[in-house]
Amino acid sequence: MQITDQFLRKINYLRVSVTDRCDLRCVYCMKEKMNFLPKNEVLSLEEIERLCDNFIDLGVEKIRLTGGEPLVRKDIIHLIKNLNKKKSISNLKEITLTTNGSLLKKFAKELKNNGINRINVSLDTIIKDKYKEITRFGNLNNVLDGIEEAKKNNIKVKINTVVFKNFNENQISDLVNWANKKLINITFIEVMPMNDTDMPRHMQFVSLENVYKELDKKFKFENSDYNTGGPSNYYVSKNLDIKVGFITPLSNNFCASCNRVRISSTGKLYMCLGQNDFIDFREILRTDRSDDYIKEKIKFALSIKPQRHDFIINSKVKPYINRFMNETGG
Ligand code: 5AD
Ligand code: SF4
Repeated sequence: MQITDQFLRKINYLRVSVTDRCDLRCVYCMKEKMNFLPKNEVLSLEEIERLCDNFIDLGVEKIRLTGGEPLVRKDIIHLIKNLNKKKSISNLKEITLTTNGSLLKKFAKELKNNGINRINVSLDTIIKDKYKEITRFGNLNNVLDGIEEAKKNNIKVKINTVVFKNFNENQISDLVNWANKKLINITFIEVMPMNDTDMPRHMQFVSLENVYKELDKKFKFENSDYNTGGPSNYYVSKNLDIKVGFITPLSNNFCASCNRVRISSTGKLYMCLGQNDFIDFREILRTDRSDDYIKEKIKFALSIKPQRHDFIINSKVKPYINRFMNETGG
């Protein structure tokens, strides 16, 4: 069984936010003072697993755990262990993680032992003070140590870097050189207009078209057909041993090949990162409904998956999306 949406896009990728909590407060993601959800509003690990099972039955092959920060969720390894067991008996082929890396040193070995072979680590700067500034109190060394530990355990790391105005625009080629030295692919991401943080979005946004042009002068990029099933366009260069990706939701729309949906930590299924529509599964999971009922609801949700996001950033429209990134994890 391979489920498709109303535009016949195959939906084989599920992103699951396992917690809205995070040990950092990146300025483009959260406000300084965030109210996190009470525990009973967040899905239990059993509820998450049951939802995943139904998606897997409908053709989902890849699950990415996100947050907030997925590694702050208590017993997260337990969920990963259970999901990993399904790989041999179902459609499920891969489980991955998007993490800020601060707890990676502690968890890398256990992640590897439970079938995690690839992770994305969010890192916007390799300058210690700048890292503290953008995350509000993070410690860069924790992430760097975490990345080393992941590599030691044969977990393939990719770096995700949000390009933020007047913050890291001038560090982009340094980041590429740093990643190249470590043989880690790196992807740059445009700021998206999620719920308002403490600074208006138009003061944060940088178009990656300009970033690409600057980097291209230095590295002389060539197109690459490398694809990890995501929206990133990758480039290679004779001067580099890594691939450099660009995710450009605003400057270049990629929705035609969208293959994913997202579950928030409270069990809302968001059919599109860039739209406000959702279907709430929490009550369904908490009342006595059958798996067939859940599957019918999933099919209905996909029948109304929007064609595309209409992200827009300017000084007049705000907030564009009425949720923070830590609800759905990017
Ligand atoms: N726009 C773009 N990326 C964001 N992230 C968090 N908030 C935003 C935003 N408004 C990124 C994080 C992480 C991923 C989960 O999403 O840096 O890499
Ligand atoms: Fe935490 Fe990631 Fe948001 Fe930063 S971007 S505050 S690391 S969830």
